[in-house]
Amino acid sequence: MKLEYSINKNKHSILFCKDDNIKKMSQVLANFETDKNVLFLFDSKIDKKIVEKIFNELKLSGCNIIKIECVSEKLNKNEKLLFKILDILLANNFTKKSIVISFGGGVLGDVSALASSLYLRGLNYICIPTTMTSIVDSSIGGKTAINYKGIINSVGTYYHPKIVFILEHVLKNLPEREFLAGIPEIIKCGIIGNKTILSLLKKKHNQIVSRNTNVLFKLCYLSLKTKIKFFLDDIFEKNRRLSLNFGHTFAHAIEMAIELKTKKDFIRHGEAVGIGMLCEVFYEKKKRDKIFNTIEDLLKKYNLPTKVLLKRVPLSREKLHNSIYKNIFLDKKRVGKNPRYISIKKLYHPQIKEIKDFNFLNETILETIYD
Ligand SMILES: NC(=O)c1ccc[n+]([C@@H]2O[C@H](COP(=O)([O-])OP(=O)(O)OC[C@H]3O[C@@H](n4cnc5c(N)ncnc54)[C@H](O)[C@@H]3O)[C@@H](O)[C@H]2O)c1
Repeated sequence: MKLEYSINKNKHSILFCKDDNIKKMSQVLANFETDKNVLFLFDSKIDKKIVEKIFNELKLSGCNIIKIECVSEKLNKNEKLLFKILDILLANNFTKKSIVISFGGGVLGDVSALASSLYLRGLNYICIPTTMTSIVDSSIGGKTAINYKGIINSVGTYYHPKIVFILEHVLKNLPEREFLAGIPEIIKCGIIGNKTILSLLKKKHNQIVSRNTNVLFKLCYLSLKTKIKFFLDDIFEKNRRLSLNFGHTFAHAIEMAIELKTKKDFIRHGEAVGIGMLCEVFYEKKKRDKIFNTIEDLLKKYNLPTKVLLKRVPLSREKLHNSIYKNIFLDKKRVGKNPRYISIKKLYHPQIKEIKDFNFLNETILETIYD
C-alpha cells in the first residue's frame, strides 16, 4: 500500500509496511541516491526494543548510520534541539547527499525536518512517525518548526520528506494516549472533506481501538490522502490549505496558555485540536448544533477530552481564560489585526473567516473550553 505525490516535479512517497514486509525499508534506503551517511534520530520514549528493530533493519541497507537519542516532548521543540542536530551534521561532515531520518512524534519530526531544510540549504529527509498525530498529520505537508519565545511554531520552513514509512509495528505498540491523541486530526480530515473517514470512525470503533491493521491503514491512508488534496496546490498556505487548520486557532491558544504558565506538557496537540474544533463550531454557529454534536460524540467515543479539566491544570479559571483569550490573537493565519478560524457551516465545506465578535469570543471560551 502506498501514496505518491509530486511537488515541483519531485516525487514523494508514503509507504505502509506490514511486519512481514519491513525489509522494504532497507531496500528503499539502499536504492536511494545518497552518499551513504545517515543520521538516525529517535525519540527517547519509544520502547528501546522497537528502536533496535528498526535501526537493525535500516543497517541492512549498507549505509553508515549514526544513531542519536533525543528527548523530544513539546517543551523541547526549541532552538536547543535544532542546534544539537545541526551540530551533529556539521561535526560528521554530512553533505547534501546525506540523509536525516527522524523516528519520533510530531516534535522530533518538525525539528528534524527544519534542521534538514537549513543544513547546506537542504539535505534528504525521511520521516518514520511514531505517534498517531505524526502518522496521520505532521509527517506530510512539509511544515517544519520550532516554538520560539513561547509562540508555537513561530520559526519554521516548508520542507517535504522524500519518504514516509508508516509501520504496522509502531501502530500496534503505541501507548494508548499517543494512539488516541491522533484521532482528532483524523476527525478533522473527515469534517473538512471526507465522509468515509467519519463513517469508519463511527462504525469500526472496535477494530480501531483493538488496532486492527487493515482498518488502521485504511484510516491513515484516507486521512493522508485528504491532507494531500488540501495542501498540494497550496504548499505555502495562501488559501485552500488553511482549512487543515480547523480547530487550531483555539488549540494553539490552549496549548500555549497551559504550557507557558506551567512549563509542563499537560495536553497533547491532538487533544487540544479536538477541543479547538468544538470551539470553532460553537463560535461559528453560536450554539451546539449537529456538527458540534458529531465531533463531540466522536471525541467521547474515543475517550478523548471535550474540555480542559480545571482540576487537572494548576491554573486558576481566570488566568487560563485570560491567557487563552490573549493567545488567540497570536494566530499565525491572521492577515490584519484579527485572528482567523475555519468555519464549517456545512460538513465538508470549510471556509476561512475572521474572529470579529470579541464578546462572543469570550462566551465561546467560557462555554466550551474548561470545566
Ligand atoms: N508539521 C505539521 O504539519 C504538524 C501537524 C500536527 C502537529 N504538529 C506538531 O506535532 C507536535 C505534536 O505531535 P505529537 O503529539 O506526536 O507530539 P510529541 O512528538 O511530543 O509526542 C508525544 C509524546 O509521545 C512520546 N512518544 C513519541 N512516540 C512514542 C512511542 N512510539 N512510544 C511512546 N512514546 C512516544 C514523546 O516523547 C512525547 O512525550 C506539536 O509540536 C505540533 O505542533 C505538526
